[in-house]
Amino acid sequence: MTLTEAALAARENAWAPFSGFRVGAALEDEAGRVFTGCNVENATYGLSVCAERVAVFKAISEGARKFRRVAVAADTDTLTPPCGACRQILWEFCGDVELTLVNPRGKMETFQMRDLFPRPFDASFFR
Ligand code: THU
Repeated sequence: MTLTEAALAARENAWAPFSGFRVGAALEDEAGRVFTGCNVENATYGLSVCAERVAVFKAISEGARKFRRVAVAADTDTLTPPCGACRQILWEFCGDVELTLVNPRGKMETFQMRDLFPRPFDASFFR
């Protein structure tokens, strides 16, 4: 399974009863391991977590530390990019990785994180 297929498959597990907007994400680490996530919404809305952050936190909690690629899947014709909060988290944990957006009809576009998240704040400012 390719990384975009893994993101599309993870999207099938989305828990999105409030927005109806289903998202999947997949990360590949330096050893080739794949970690996936879907958005998980909550009745208090603000506690909802995006697919990208679920995937990052799953990966970190499983011991992964260096990442090569990220894929994000949603069913939109204009491909859905990560929200601002997820860009911060992706930058901090994955750095300037390649990020591919995909939809279920096979449309894809690939970016570098530095282009989606220019002039980032990170720990280099205080360490
Ligand atoms: N969402 C994601 O999971 N990732 C994105 O890149 C954009 C937004 C989720 C959050 C919420 O559950 C739903 O999509 C609508 O915003």
